Amino acid sequence: MGDKSHKMQNDNLSKTFLESLASKLFGTLVALIIAVVLGFAVLPFLVPYTPTKQVEKKVVPKMKAAKQETVAKVVPKAKEQIVYWEAPNLDTISDSALKYRITYGREIIAHTAKYLGPEGTVRKMSNGMNCQNCHLKAGTGVFANNYGSVASTYPKFRARSGAVEDIYKRVNDCFQRSLNGQPLDTSSLEMQAIKSYLVFLGTNVKKR
Ligand code: HEC
Repeated sequence: MGDKSHKMQNDNLSKTFLESLASKLFGTLVALIIAVVLGFAVLPFLVPYTPTKQVEKKVVPKMKAAKQETVAKVVPKAKEQIVYWEAPNLDTISDSALKYRITYGREIIAHTAKYLGPEGTVRKMSNGMNCQNCHLKAGTGVFANNYGSVASTYPKFRARSGAVEDIYKRVNDCFQRSLNGQPLDTSSLEMQAIKSYLVFLGTNVKKR
């Protein structure tokens, strides 16, 4: 009998012990969960964290404004500085004799071989190339070896000959070297036409 009551007492003891252990564990678990939840709630206030949207609101407009300011300052200046040469229009020539001569000059630059090539109708004195093969658009193309500044820079000193050369000499230089031909007579209609055309192209270019 004594044994039995002893065992019962033992059972009761272990039962209350387990119960209290379980409730303690449960309490700890709840505390832990609360701590974690609170932690997440409080964290943003502790760390200096700036959400992306706020950055976009604050920084992006500033950057856009700065960029616009730069563009407004730089682009007009750049446009002012870069003014490409444009060939004058032959239709603006009122003197008909002069217009004829200048037009003939352009024709020879564009179709040199037809007049002065191996089968040239005027004279057979060059290799069949046209001036326009190297001086594009009859010498009026931008960045195409144009004649825009010929009138304003010749006569000029050239290192190749070691002398001051006029337009005739420079034209004949290309006839002899580039077109592997002979020089054109300075007083010929063709040379006069070429010179008039080159001078006309330089109408709006200041003398240097
Ligand atoms: C094979 C190519 C070639 C052909 C064809 C050619 N030239 Fe040239 N020409 C040049 C080169 C290259 C220059 C030098 C460009 C430079 O100095 O920047 C030049 C320069 C010139 C210049 C001086 C331009 C300047 O601004 O100083 C004149 C004028 C000229 N050529 C006229 C002619 C004439 C007229 C013809 C046709 C009869 C002709 N060229 C055919 C290549 C050619």
